[in-house]
Amino acid sequence: MGLSPLLGLTLVLGALAVVTYFVYASFAFGAGYQPTPRRSVRQMLRYAEVGPSDVVYDLGAGTGAIVFRAARTYRAQVIGVEVEPLRILILRLRRRLGPDSDRIRIVWGNLFHLDFRSATVVTAFLWPGAMERLRPKFESELRRGARVVSHCHKVPGWTPSAYDPATDVYLYRWPEAAAAP
Ligand SMILES: C[S@@+](CC[C@H](N)C(=O)[O-])C[C@H]1O[C@@H](n2cnc3c(N)ncnc32)[C@H](O)[C@@H]1O
Repeated sequence: MGLSPLLGLTLVLGALAVVTYFVYASFAFGAGYQPTPRRSVRQMLRYAEVGPSDVVYDLGAGTGAIVFRAARTYRAQVIGVEVEPLRILILRLRRRLGPDSDRIRIVWGNLFHLDFRSATVVTAFLWPGAMERLRPKFESELRRGARVVSHCHKVPGWTPSAYDPATDVYLYRWPEAAAAP
């Protein structure tokens, strides 16, 4: 027996609503959802020279493309902050089911309320408005020598020490990035 047209339509609309929620619900907070491409993740972590002595903050952790690679491949301590609760559920499940969970902290909250003072590396794939709001926070909280790597969008007013057009990744070093060119 086939689906009735009404039930079929309801299921399609329901699925569309879930996908739309998943991608766009966090839009007002600073970015919708889109996983960072694998090549860009690798370039971000290589550019920032992430290693076991680093504390990496992933701002808007999504489903963990950066978080788990930084902790499990590059052996860093990683804090992933994410505002959207379904993604938090996925992140916590992935953390629990995989190795090295002691190196990974998942924070459910707004990244603008987080204190960045203990970060040695900050990773971000956020909308331009969020990068603009982050700049003064970076300038007051980042420690000397911290690296900021961003996919797609610049930190407005800062000078990158490197940019890779193939993966669209910017590398900044604090405080050199804010010095006049
Ligand atoms: C483009 S995705 C990047 C995902 C992730 N970094 C990755 O590597 O795949 C941006 C993420 O930032 C989250 N986000 C946006 N604004 C936020 C905020 N103010 N606080 C915490 N998370 C936020 C969104 O929910 C979304 O999952």
